[in-house]
Amino acid sequence: MFPRDIIAKKRDGKRLTDAEIRTFVDGVSNQSWADYQATALVMAMFINGLDSREQHQLTKSMLESGEVLDLEAIDAPKADKHSTGGVGDKTSLIIAPLAAACGLAVPMISGRGLGHTGGTLDKLESIDGYKVRLTKAEIISTVSKCGFAMAGQTMKIVPADRKLYALRDAAGMIESVPLIVASIMSKKLAESLDVLVLDVKTGSGAFMKTLRSARELAKALVKTGKAFGVKTEAVITDMDEPLGRYVGNSLEVFECLQIMRGEADELMKPTADLSIELTARMVFLSGLEKSIEKARSLCRRKLADGSALEKFQENVRLQGGDVSVCSRPKSLLKAKVKKTAIKAVASGYIAGMDTRAIGDAVALGGGGRMLASDSVDHAVGFEKEVSIGSKVSKGDVLGHVYLRESKNLTAIERMLGDAYKISRSKPTSSPIVRETIG
Ligand code: URA
Repeated sequence: MFPRDIIAKKRDGKRLTDAEIRTFVDGVSNQSWADYQATALVMAMFINGLDSREQHQLTKSMLESGEVLDLEAIDAPKADKHSTGGVGDKTSLIIAPLAAACGLAVPMISGRGLGHTGGTLDKLESIDGYKVRLTKAEIISTVSKCGFAMAGQTMKIVPADRKLYALRDAAGMIESVPLIVASIMSKKLAESLDVLVLDVKTGSGAFMKTLRSARELAKALVKTGKAFGVKTEAVITDMDEPLGRYVGNSLEVFECLQIMRGEADELMKPTADLSIELTARMVFLSGLEKSIEKARSLCRRKLADGSALEKFQENVRLQGGDVSVCSRPKSLLKAKVKKTAIKAVASGYIAGMDTRAIGDAVALGGGGRMLASDSVDHAVGFEKEVSIGSKVSKGDVLGHVYLRESKNLTAIERMLGDAYKISRSKPTSSPIVRETIG
């Protein structure tokens, strides 16, 4: 089977056989396919789509391209949460320790930020010494000691996705339901989970801009999880504005620590509420509580009594990080950055935000990556001072940008100022959880 024949078949809109899909994924993993051949086939898949059998086979082949975690020895339900990506989307840092505090084992394999979206690994690396490159044995040992580990994909877990995700990102091919499903689910299935909760973002900062497309993705993710024997649920949540108060790596860790320390302010509340809701769904689906309401109460209690913070601290110690951030979160903000206010150009209500532009502005300032090979400045970020629905007067501060150097300041200020839509009428508010599927 030659690559060019498989590429031409999908280019012409035909269905690929299971063997052809396996040949492609093997070729990507063992590098016998050149990048331009893999990119050509992925582009053909992006344009012509995959039916549900092809999507299932792509997920299976990608999963089988590497090793899976063996968590048999851990006597607790294995559960995880995965988000499709957003701006200020930091709930993993609370969910993993909170779920562990409730009795779940969470082998959380996460990614790095790319483009306008942030990544859990970059956030964690703003804690001095925190190691996210763990071997398979280290992931298993960390989960067995403190209930959760947060690590990057190892070289051996789903190697095909590492390659394909980079090609898709470089060539503008992220926003495809079958490709996102195969990418996310192959990684999550490699964790040998009992339960998976998916946070499917919708809105101006999400890959899926409309509720309709988010629903389509959520249904496909849930169907795939169930087909592989994992109890799977998807929650469609709002990404029409950045989640919580902060966007940017150390700022987001600071926000999560404030929440786990019981010191959250009003703008951080959506982060806390969504973390509780998603963890409660993991707890309920695992059978640790008999109803979702009981699961929510357990999560609220474990967050309020400091159990989640304790778990987080234990994990930071095990993964080599400086645990003093847990008692002094302000130390995360010590870097010398210039704080500049973004002001309202008119009076009225905040009717909308271009959340993607806010994420792009942070990335342009060095807080994120334009290319997978870029390094990240953890101190760069954005702080929201108002939310959708807030009433503002001309000249009021809408937010602050934190930058190390001012070289792109004018462009960034313009992007952030333009990101706010101010209108005379009060917009109707929408709940953070839009729908649940599964
Ligand atoms: N996150 C992933 O891991 N893969 C995608 O394709 C999109 C978001």
